[in-house]
Amino acid sequence: MASDFSPHDSFAVAPMIDVTTRTFRRFARLMTKKAMLYTEMVAANALVHGKEYLIEYDHSEEGPCTLQLGGCDPQILSQAAKIGEKHGYSAINLNCGCPSDKVFKGDFGAVLMKKPELICDCVKAMRDAVSIPVTVKTRIGVDEFDSPEFTLRLISNIASAGSNHVILHCRKAWLHGLSPKENRTVPPLDYARAALVKEEFPNLCLTVNGGITSLFTARHLLLKYDGVMLGRAIIDDPYILAGVDAQIFKDESHIMTRDEVFSKVLDFTEVYLAQGHKLSHLGVFVQGLFNGCHGARRFRNYLSTHMHELGADAGVFVKAYEIMKNS
Ligand SMILES: Cc1cc2nc3c(=O)[nH]c(=O)nc-3n(C[C@H](O)[C@H](O)[C@H](O)COP(=O)(O)O)c2cc1C
Repeated sequence: MASDFSPHDSFAVAPMIDVTTRTFRRFARLMTKKAMLYTEMVAANALVHGKEYLIEYDHSEEGPCTLQLGGCDPQILSQAAKIGEKHGYSAINLNCGCPSDKVFKGDFGAVLMKKPELICDCVKAMRDAVSIPVTVKTRIGVDEFDSPEFTLRLISNIASAGSNHVILHCRKAWLHGLSPKENRTVPPLDYARAALVKEEFPNLCLTVNGGITSLFTARHLLLKYDGVMLGRAIIDDPYILAGVDAQIFKDESHIMTRDEVFSKVLDFTEVYLAQGHKLSHLGVFVQGLFNGCHGARRFRNYLSTHMHELGADAGVFVKAYEIMKNS
């Protein structure tokens, strides 16, 4: 059976709605060529009903990138997966962990964990439809279904459906009473569950996700697991990405300083604006570049005040940088 795990999957940036946009991916690629990036979750239904623009993609600029689909209809998901393959994505991922109201009503995301046979049917249908890897992102459980036996059965179902790469967000989802945001913090992380999965399914490629905040921790986890996936840590400190190729993928290239990344950002900004994009769409990511450094707050404040102005250009970034350096 072909592997659904690519070498790039050793380090992935998590799919995040309103974050992992095309702009984010182009920004991330200024720092890492090797990490696997993801799209935001895209509803399979929307994709097959004419909204292909949602997944416009340029592999040479953004790749490798996995398209994450939300859905629960095997037929629709298989069609959506085909569309994703046609657009050049490296893999298709099924979201079985998102707890938002929207997906709850649509009967997909975390709800799917309660219907393991349906997950099987979805994975099988997608596998039959495409020749690129098909993977699943799930949590360790949902609501009262959160025992170790439940997690193992879930993973066993996914593996038997033909996917040999699972991304495990190591906390359960509470579908009632917790917001999606609370569902990322309130249920505790349980990495022991990931260890159990790895022990029981040694041939399955397992990416772990949840609460990883540094490359140091990532490397430590990679001694045990096949891949790591970071989400919020990359929003908080995107500069983490500058160390990924050297520290995770053992690439010999020089690790850029934040100032060097910033200089690349300025070059990219010219191209980006010339393509008709707004500075603020890039600025939301650039804002975090100096987090943790002296003057970072001034940098952020200047950007958030000025990047939305009509005609805002790279000069706004430069001015924010000067203010930070002179503070
Ligand atoms: C703003 C935001 C949007 C998210 N959107 C998605 C999504 O579209 N699909 C998904 O599977 N998970 C989504 N997640 C969950 C993340 O992929 C990840 O599993 C979660 O944040 C835990 O990882 P972390 O602790 O490294 O952030 C989102 C998380 C955040 C913070």
